[in-house]
Amino acid sequence: MNYREEILKLKKDKNAVILAHYYQIAEIQDIADYVGDSLGLSQKAAESEADIIVFAGVHFMAETAKILSPSTKVLLPDLEAGCSLADSCPPDEFSAFKEKHKDHIVISYINCSAAIKTMSDVICTSGNAKQIVESFPKEQNIIFAPDKNLGGYINSISGRNMVLWDGTCEVHDILNTEAIINLKIEHPDAKLVAHPECKAQVLELADYVGSTTAMLNFTAYDDAKKYIVATETGILHQMRKNSPEKEFIIVPTDETCSCNDCPYMKLNTMEKLYSCMLDEKPEIILDNNIIEMAKKPINKMLDISRKLNLIK
Ligand code: 13P
Ligand code: SF4
Repeated sequence: MNYREEILKLKKDKNAVILAHYYQIAEIQDIADYVGDSLGLSQKAAESEADIIVFAGVHFMAETAKILSPSTKVLLPDLEAGCSLADSCPPDEFSAFKEKHKDHIVISYINCSAAIKTMSDVICTSGNAKQIVESFPKEQNIIFAPDKNLGGYINSISGRNMVLWDGTCEVHDILNTEAIINLKIEHPDAKLVAHPECKAQVLELADYVGSTTAMLNFTAYDDAKKYIVATETGILHQMRKNSPEKEFIIVPTDETCSCNDCPYMKLNTMEKLYSCMLDEKPEIILDNNIIEMAKKPINKMLDISRKLNLIK
């Protein structure tokens, strides 16, 4: 079966839109109506006028799309496509943590469940975390959840002292500092770009730290010819498309595994994308109360981002 052709037909017949994250396999990125980072994808979901949003990404992203577009049918090709970071923050434990820090507001990274979003004052993504944090006065007490690497990085560049939930992304957190140093020695002319979910030791070595979209823009407009890339492998597809004349070297975890393929993102395949569009399932279903409560902190993030011209 020619999945590409069949998916395009279904997309037209059903007035569906395909939103894909940069960590999807190349064929899915190439068939999507929009490919982006978490911030761009949530904005597209909020603006969507399609009857169906097919989310080629992970569960928290499709859930966010449903919260922002509750009357739209939202499909996720594989319901098992979770996220280790979202899973590292169980709602009951987080609620107890909040109780211990009663005078703190909560800023949550979008990589969390809808239940955690309902307990948050504002959401952020890696594309706007610094600006969202800095939109609050310095004296404001803040809990940052669930990524301690991103939270620690924002503390270090903004001089804040946010209390951090102890969660990490299993893909970024194991990127190997020693391998990066060796690659830097081997390629002294290469710049290191890193996602802020990486450990502090990796971020300290980086020439540029940013979200997937920010790294893509940096490598497209910067004048170096070679980059060492510390994030998930899917990003290489757009980097190479945008800058075919440049060389991109992905940071290995070790010689025996390509552990920086996100196992959840990579559950989506063209075949699953096709069947989910054909059968219109699996569908994301959320309780209306959760939608109403989770929408507030996400919309607050989108409002702040628009005011600061981070999105249009
Ligand atoms: P972005 O905000 O850069 O899209 O990152 C999302 C993500 O899951 C990174 O692991
Ligand atoms: Fe979650 Fe990490 Fe995969 Fe991103 S790369 S979806 S944070 S497990």
